[in-house]
Amino acid sequence: MDTAVIVLAAGKGTRMNSNRPKVLHEVGNFPLISHCIKTAQSINPQKILAVLGHRRTEIKNVLENSDTSIELVIQEAQLGTGHAVSIAIEELADFDGNVIVLFGDTPFVSAETMRKIEARSRQADLVVLGFHAPDPSGYGRLITNDNELLKIVEHKDANGQELALNLCNSGVMAGRSLVLKELLKELDRDNKNNELYLTDCVQLAKAKGLNCSYQVCEPKEALGINSLQQLSLAEKRFQETARTEALEIGIHLVAPETVFFSLDTEIGRDTIVEPNVIFGPGVKVGTGCTVKAFSYLERCNVSHNCSIGPYARLRPGVDLSEGVKIGNFVEIKNSKIAENSKINHLSYIGDTEIGENSNIGAGTITCNYDGANKHKTVIGKNVFIGSNTMLIAPLTIGNNSMTGSGSVITKDIPADNLAIARSEQNNKNGGAKKLKALLRNKKNKTKS
Ligand code: UD1
Ligand code: CA
Repeated sequence: MDTAVIVLAAGKGTRMNSNRPKVLHEVGNFPLISHCIKTAQSINPQKILAVLGHRRTEIKNVLENSDTSIELVIQEAQLGTGHAVSIAIEELADFDGNVIVLFGDTPFVSAETMRKIEARSRQADLVVLGFHAPDPSGYGRLITNDNELLKIVEHKDANGQELALNLCNSGVMAGRSLVLKELLKELDRDNKNNELYLTDCVQLAKAKGLNCSYQVCEPKEALGINSLQQLSLAEKRFQETARTEALEIGIHLVAPETVFFSLDTEIGRDTIVEPNVIFGPGVKVGTGCTVKAFSYLERCNVSHNCSIGPYARLRPGVDLSEGVKIGNFVEIKNSKIAENSKINHLSYIGDTEIGENSNIGAGTITCNYDGANKHKTVIGKNVFIGSNTMLIAPLTIGNNSMTGSGSVITKDIPADNLAIARSEQNNKNGGAKKLKALLRNKKNKTKS
């Protein structure tokens, strides 16, 4: 049977106290809604629909940049989760399969749980994903009888006895499209929020003699984000999970609790990550690398057996081939560096290509920006750039060439050449003694 996933993301997110739409707040450097789309994709559904309303243009831009096709459904007035699903289900007019509803503010539902929900929804008319909440406040409570789900009561509408229950609604619900469609038509707004609650479908289904069941997941999967406090908790949980997974696949984190990942970080096994390293979005690191302490990487590609840091910064567009060494206080941006080349100390390399086996001396700077335009530096293979060389781009530096330390290079260097561009040294015999005497005299005069 076909499956469609509906992601709800139309709400205002009032409790965030923020100008940013709730589902665009980020965890692991990706918006909450992107986490949900990833969850949806994990079961390869026939369709993914996102219900947008409040601040939809910004959310639409994010979704359009993702590589999956997502149908957008607009909910003009946000009359509740039940209302949001009913609008989406109307769009599924001729679809007679399973529907799984995800909440855009609940980012951690696992692929395994999705598969379980999908399988269970083949046996029951309606399935809800529940969890035992350490702190149930704010969540709807599942009223059950053994394996049967009888009803969901929202926190605001619950009585004392119901509030004491800790089996809560994660928000994930699954059922046959046509069944859900019929139930949604019967919703009313007879509750504290005056909203059409998706959760009321359970008692409506029960009243019709339909079979409702529930699946239980880990509390961390069901964390719903309504406030910045919950967002920071979600970030904490995300990092904990990412660290555990990294260790499991053979990435050696020396001090896991100090390393930060993004949702899309990819690292190969036997790579060692020292303390206090941050992986921004879009980072791929190969196998057998060492990322030393206090390095910051974003949108870059690091091949196998490279050594990065300590204190290195790899900015967007960096592509390092195998065996490259980047040392301390080196910043690299938009540059391609071929096999076994080294930039070991205190350098800025931007908009540059470097061939294999080249050595860039300490303090080298590619002066790529003239205040108006960016220019490119091309450095060949087996090149030796002397310490403290300023490379004024645009420049092409031929294979096997060298620059003298302290040079300011403004012209291309042909292959095999040594370029020296600094003023010549002049040694004056006895000059030091004379100058010292002169300076002391001057000082004594000003005193008297
Ligand atoms: C909801 C559930 C609650 C559950 C909790 C889990 C209902 C009535 N309540 O409460 O049982 O324990 O989630 O986190 O379903 N949305 C729309 N359109 C609307 C209203 C909401 O798209 O008209 C979207 C929101 O953008 C959000 C999601 O639905 O992504 C959940 O809405 P929210 O208001 O956060 O529900 P909760 O109060 O958290
Ligand atoms: Ca919520």
